[in-house]
Amino acid sequence: MESGIEKIFKKQLIPKGAYKGGKGKSEVIAKLGNKKIHKLSSNENILGPSPKAFDAIINHMGKISEYPERTDIKLRKALSKFYGNILSPDQFITSNSGVAMIELIERVFLNEKSNIIISNPAFKPYQVFAQRIGAKVIDIPLIGDAFELDVTNILKSVNKNTRLIFVTSPNNPTGTHIPKSQLDELINNIPDHVIVVIDEVYFQYATAEDYTTALPYVDAGKNVIAINSFSKAYGLAGIRMGYAYSSEKIAKYISSARLPFMLNTLGMEAAIASLEDKPFIKMTVELINSEKKFLYQELDKLDIKYWKSEANFITIKPEMNDKEFEAKILEHGIMVRPVASFGHPGCIRVTIGDRTANKAYLKALKKVLKK
Ligand SMILES: Cc1ncc(COP(=O)(O)O)c(C=O)c1O
Repeated sequence: MESGIEKIFKKQLIPKGAYKGGKGKSEVIAKLGNKKIHKLSSNENILGPSPKAFDAIINHMGKISEYPERTDIKLRKALSKFYGNILSPDQFITSNSGVAMIELIERVFLNEKSNIIISNPAFKPYQVFAQRIGAKVIDIPLIGDAFELDVTNILKSVNKNTRLIFVTSPNNPTGTHIPKSQLDELINNIPDHVIVVIDEVYFQYATAEDYTTALPYVDAGKNVIAINSFSKAYGLAGIRMGYAYSSEKIAKYISSARLPFMLNTLGMEAAIASLEDKPFIKMTVELINSEKKFLYQELDKLDIKYWKSEANFITIKPEMNDKEFEAKILEHGIMVRPVASFGHPGCIRVTIGDRTANKAYLKALKKVLKK
């Protein structure tokens, strides 16, 4: 029997393997001194945010002494418009980031008796948040070097206590996508007490012909929730905004657990302005696509194992211990992310930057790997 105050602590919250997120630039600069750093570790937008988001923030700065609007309907209407009015504003849920949305969804659907299914290599928070609730995490790993979804075994693992199946497409940390045929097979065969959660925070970058977002499934009334973020292509990682869409029934249920005044004024305005700036997203995607081609060519020349990516990062497998690689490439001013904790041992995720950042990365890569 524990004595002190710990006896009232919830066992599942006692820190073990908590999700920390990637390091910040200032943390690294504080250690290394004032060296030029290329932060290629968190899949942010190298172009920054849309200038329209910037203006929206500046124009609303005078408002921050007042509480934000009581409702997020303005953003949900902007989202409905963004999706061509295929979905109604009541099918959206907004949140303070993609991870906050993952946590919210798990909080409202899980308890100590339930389970979720994930497919490693996968974004770590799905697992960490479920464990905090005391729910069971079933891992049905992605298959082979193409990281295909093991639909047969996922369906076999579903039982009466399964609530959520997480699918990430494009996937972090592999950069691969789940083809529509595999999603069809999964979604068409789940029982009605199970929801497929499709995390599509990198959807803007996907170009594969057989790629699909969750939109057609939600539109067809399936038990599907899509998770999205303003941290990636929109360049708003520091302001913490995210959203999800699903059926009205599911959206209403999840929204009932949102906090009052959850979205801050600046975040909501910046998100709305970003949704309207389609040319900025086009420019971002074009930059990533052309730089991706350049990086593929250069990585091929260096004969390094990497996976073709549908996202704004390329994951490599250097022939070196991952932690050692991270430390060595940092000495050359390049921040990268080892993804062993995402179930991808020995691999390193590198955000695609602009030509200057990518050249600096390649130069450092050659030095570190002595190529
Ligand atoms: C697959 C995936 N989902 C969700 C997120 C969450 O993004 P954020 O919490 O910054 O909105 C990330 C960020 O790395 C991600 O890679």
